[in-house]
Amino acid sequence: MSSVEVRNLIKKYGEFTAVNDASFMAESGSLISILGPSGCGKTTTLRAIAGFEDVTSGDILLDGRSLANTPSWRRNIGIVFQSYALFPFMTVGDNVGYGLKMRKVPKDEISRKVDDALKRVGLPDSRSKYPRQLSGGQRQRVALARALIIEPDVMLLDEPLSALDAKLRDEMRFELKRIQRQSGVTTLLVTHDQEEAFTLSDQIVVMNNAVVKQVGSPREIWDHPNSAFVADFIGVENILPAVRTDNGVRLAGSEFKTDIAGKGPSQMMAGFRSGDLQLVNSEADASDNQITGEIIGEAYTGESNVYQVQTGLGSEPIILKTEKEQKLTGNVKLHLPPAKILILEQD
Ligand SMILES: Nc1ncnc2c1ncn2[C@@H]1O[C@H](COP(=O)(O)OP(=O)(O)O)[C@@H](O)[C@H]1O
Ligand SMILES: [Mg+2]
Repeated sequence: MSSVEVRNLIKKYGEFTAVNDASFMAESGSLISILGPSGCGKTTTLRAIAGFEDVTSGDILLDGRSLANTPSWRRNIGIVFQSYALFPFMTVGDNVGYGLKMRKVPKDEISRKVDDALKRVGLPDSRSKYPRQLSGGQRQRVALARALIIEPDVMLLDEPLSALDAKLRDEMRFELKRIQRQSGVTTLLVTHDQEEAFTLSDQIVVMNNAVVKQVGSPREIWDHPNSAFVADFIGVENILPAVRTDNGVRLAGSEFKTDIAGKGPSQMMAGFRSGDLQLVNSEADASDNQITGEIIGEAYTGESNVYQVQTGLGSEPIILKTEKEQKLTGNVKLHLPPAKILILEQD
């Protein structure tokens, strides 16, 4: 097991910058996700760590030692791609043992390790089958076994679950987490799926447009997204231009108190989740941080009611979510708790 550090990584293709000054650290034994929309530079970052790409500048460090002069084949890194990339004409056992065969490990040792690796991924009886005889999820587990068998210092997983249908993907998430915890291998997972990143990771690196926007634990990123991009990407429904005041923010002329005192740039964005708004039922209820508006649209999700509320905060309606029993029509008065206002950088 090893820590991996990406330090000021820049990768250009000609004039185009695919990764722009990315820095983050995966602690030894942890699972870290690189999360971001398609084209933001996730795979390029992973390929640089694997040594498949020459970097333009910056460094990759394994346990604090630079890999700059270590070719990809000498980096002890296991890789699983989005497509399983199994050899179709080889049995599962031969696929899994391939890396050891290349390393000239004795046959009986390979055999023992193949059995062990297949057990670890929950496929103890499939060694003589062919990939085409397996389901998508099983193939993905074979790919994991093949990467784990070389006892890598680091595992790189590039959207490993995105080819699976929704139900299987959920199951494989649990499997992946279990396998990673048991093997203890430092793992970097690339995904554009925020739920996947949140459920699996110790740390999340959020990227957009070649830039690392935020690094933090799922909790930190959920509670304190640092920018409008990150907030939007993790599903914060309401994001509005804001101006700082002494004890809060001003949204379209209305003053709101926030828990975080007035520091930082005066022009920023503020966000709040649809489920964090509270209905004000009587005049005695909270007198500050109020928003009045009119319900102009509604949707029922099964779990809750989602409303569009036209307010004085802007031309776009804000989004409000209530418990499914709580049906609303007409005019509503809402309270926005100070602690629930997210202060966001403008992108
Ligand atoms: N070999 C290449 N030559 C030129 N541009 C590339 C190359 N590989 C990737 N890119 C570009 O770099 C950007 C980032 O790509 P990639 O890292 O694959 O994104 P992601 O994995 O986040 O979807 C994209 O705009 C992509 O088109
Ligand atoms: Mg990619």
